[in-house]
Amino acid sequence: MQVRRLSLTNFRNYARLELDLPEGVILLHGDNAQGKTNLLEAIYFLATTRSPHASQDAQLINWDAMMTDEPVVVGRIVADIERPDNPCHLEMRLIVEDSGNWARNGQSAFRREALVNRRKVRLMDLLGHLRVVLFLPEDVDLVTGPPANRRRYLNVTLCQVDSDYCRDLSAYNKVLEQRNALLRRMAEGQTRNAADVLQILTEKLVEPGSRVIQRRARFIAEMGREAQEIHFQDLIGGKESLRLGYLPGWSANGRRAVDEQLADGEALQADPDIGAVAERFAAELAAAQPADLGRGSSSVGPHRDDWAVLVNGKDLGMFGSRGQVRTGVLALKLAEINWMKATTADIPILLLDEVIAELDLHRREALLAYITNQVRGKGMAQALLTTTDPGMFPDDFLSQATGLRIQAGRVIAGEP
Ligand SMILES: Nc1ncnc2c1ncn2[C@@H]1O[C@H](COP(=O)(O)OP(=O)(O)O)[C@@H](O)[C@H]1O
Ligand SMILES: [Mg+2]
Repeated sequence: MQVRRLSLTNFRNYARLELDLPEGVILLHGDNAQGKTNLLEAIYFLATTRSPHASQDAQLINWDAMMTDEPVVVGRIVADIERPDNPCHLEMRLIVEDSGNWARNGQSAFRREALVNRRKVRLMDLLGHLRVVLFLPEDVDLVTGPPANRRRYLNVTLCQVDSDYCRDLSAYNKVLEQRNALLRRMAEGQTRNAADVLQILTEKLVEPGSRVIQRRARFIAEMGREAQEIHFQDLIGGKESLRLGYLPGWSANGRRAVDEQLADGEALQADPDIGAVAERFAAELAAAQPADLGRGSSSVGPHRDDWAVLVNGKDLGMFGSRGQVRTGVLALKLAEINWMKATTADIPILLLDEVIAELDLHRREALLAYITNQVRGKGMAQALLTTTDPGMFPDDFLSQATGLRIQAGRVIAGEP
């Protein structure tokens, strides 16, 4: 798939942008703070309905637009998507309702609206029309950061290809919130005789939760296979082994050795029978219930999941060198492209933000060769890369890329 035309209104430092994008490799270049990352962010937002940063949503709207007297300010990301099956027109509206309030104290009501082919849809239904793989320099946090980063990655990636997963996750989170609220009231002694309700909410967690666990376990297994292949062939040359391990969110895991947790995860990866997963999840919930009643929240389930990247059998996040972590994340991102291709029978768009500068010469060449080979062989339709310094790219690569110069929220066509 490809983004054919991108229109931005009041998005970040783009007051207004109308941009036609060609197929193949596109190199966005320009000085710092001109809007290169913002442009990738816009495409990512349309694909995932979220920002890659955990920043406040209202920050996405152009500041100048927020400073006017208009009570309602709308930011827009609009794109024409070209796909083998059905081309489509996507729109995301970012709406700030009391912008005056924002100017005074940074608070305001913010909501998003999604449209597919000019008809309003639920945010969830925007997903799957445009698929991207984004690679940011800060993605090393995926390996070295807290488990929440890795869960977010699972959710964003799976939601782009699997609407059932997205629905199950949303259903699970809703029940989880209710269960936690009840547990909190019970722990504070505000609610008596609520055992029945707790029982019902616990049972309601099992079905969507088990499907989330099952899908994640399968995803980790599939991604592990793809990543290992890429890691071996293109990046390392067969010197290191790379494995992904699922660490299910059972309460005992905090006290257990990683090896034991991995064995548990491997059992799930190898045998993702839904009945067995549900049985295990229900048993874990029951075992944790006394403790949950004491702490006033749910300690077991996919909201506590984690996964690990293992290089030569060791947790990369704990023991990897910076270089190894970078290579591991790169392998993961390339694996994600192949995984999406295999799962959806369509090719996602690759968004690479400044990562070339982070890689040593060997890996830089391996990555650029991978991209050009994929594009040449039609294994990839469109890739957008950003850089402050096109001099870092070999001539061979530049001769195949379309250069777009970004300057102060404007795009100026021009070769680097
Ligand atoms: N909501 C916003 N309105 C206007 N400008 C913004 C907004 N959010 C970020 N910016 C500006 O965008 C610029 C950063 O753009 P970015 O895409 O990160 O640059 P780069 O080209 O270095 O990747 C900064 O100057 C920042 O102040
Ligand atoms: Mg940038």
